[in-house]
Amino acid sequence: MIDLPLKTNLLNQSLTLPNGFVIPNRLAKAATSETLATYSNNPTEKHIRLYQRWAASGIGMIITGNIMIDRRALGEPGNVVIEDERDFVILQQWATTVTDQGSQLWAQLNHPGKQSPKGLNSRNISASAAPFGAEMRSLFATPDEATHQEILEIIQRFGRSALICKKAGFSGVEIHAAHGYLINQFLSPLHNLRNDEWGGTPEKRRKFLMEVYAEIRKQVGAYFPIAIKLNSADFQKGGFTEEDSLATIKALSQAGIDLIEISGGTYESGVAKAPQKASTIVREAFFIDFAEKVRAQVKTPLMVTGGFRSVEGMNQALGSDAFDVVGIARLMAIDPDAPKYLLAGTNSEQTVQPIKTGIKKIDQLGVMEVLWYTQQLNRIAKGSNPKPKESGLWAFIKSVLRSGWGTYKTQRTRIK
Ligand SMILES: Cc1cc2nc3c(=O)[nH]c(=O)nc-3n(C[C@H](O)[C@H](O)[C@H](O)COP(=O)(O)O)c2cc1C
Repeated sequence: MIDLPLKTNLLNQSLTLPNGFVIPNRLAKAATSETLATYSNNPTEKHIRLYQRWAASGIGMIITGNIMIDRRALGEPGNVVIEDERDFVILQQWATTVTDQGSQLWAQLNHPGKQSPKGLNSRNISASAAPFGAEMRSLFATPDEATHQEILEIIQRFGRSALICKKAGFSGVEIHAAHGYLINQFLSPLHNLRNDEWGGTPEKRRKFLMEVYAEIRKQVGAYFPIAIKLNSADFQKGGFTEEDSLATIKALSQAGIDLIEISGGTYESGVAKAPQKASTIVREAFFIDFAEKVRAQVKTPLMVTGGFRSVEGMNQALGSDAFDVVGIARLMAIDPDAPKYLLAGTNSEQTVQPIKTGIKKIDQLGVMEVLWYTQQLNRIAKGSNPKPKESGLWAFIKSVLRSGWGTYKTQRTRIK
């Protein structure tokens, strides 16, 4: 047991990426989708307020919630879309709100593929025209298989969005290749059934991701940091495995990626789900065993997200030298000031607890907890404090109504 406050707190060390870019400390807010954009997917004052609060905590880097690269392909109503410069002024404001306080703002770029609620997009595409498994099928439509031309267009879009972020003053970008979204769908043999140049072997399944990375690099140049969020595994029979993940990481590292964030799971299998092994829960970091394997084979700096709760756990994990940056998500939603305590070597007064509605069918849904935490982000964005004791059921009902209304309004806005 470590005495508090810690005498040597590894969280306070800066990190220099191989390209010379410096992250001021080892604490990062992992991406948390805010769903705070307008029905036409523009960022708003609410984003500014939320990120202002987070940056004031002293955290080294903040990764935005997933930003979509195509307004025809939303993952949720209220996603920010960056596909042109129509929101340039507010994007600049968003970036400076964070960077003026000494923190960094990295934009997470994403395409949902088929992981988008039914009715939100007029059409969904994926690697293959394969639906999700039985449990998710009622929520998500069966997609069309993306044509070669469509794949090339999406790759271009990732590059364009990244360049706009760079011009607007963001510190870096992160490619979302985890949690079952489009890039993860291409990587997974369960979802990618193609036999052309985009599927059929592990190399061909990762070609889409490698091309996305190459296009972004071409657009932003050598010195602008690019990160990737990748699953250590999807935890699905016949899906993306640890072996696939390791091979993908090696390829990305060789291609020059600047930072690799390790996560795990999908909305089908459970995103960053608490592991069953008691020893892993005690060690807090869910994916540290995998990080150790990666560390032995690649030199690219690593970030691990999922399960970190206390300053002791974070220090113990960092002390193992298996990785470099601690990613936290849920804690930042219930205590946006948490880094202030953690960087001072003490703990936040809030603890991340399992959220339940008391209704088994609902509690089994992968998105249930995400909806509760999104409500907390909403509260901070309105200038209030989070409500860590908010009822799971009430938050769920509000979220479902908000999402249904958002889907309807997004469709109406699109028709106008
Ligand atoms: C409300 C909410 C929204 C999230 N949105 C995203 C997202 O947009 N992109 C992403 O990569 N992960 C997202 N995640 C997953 C987190 O980044 C993180 O991987 C996960 O919560 C585990 O970390 P934690 O144990 O510190 O919460 C989200 C999680 C929550 C709770």
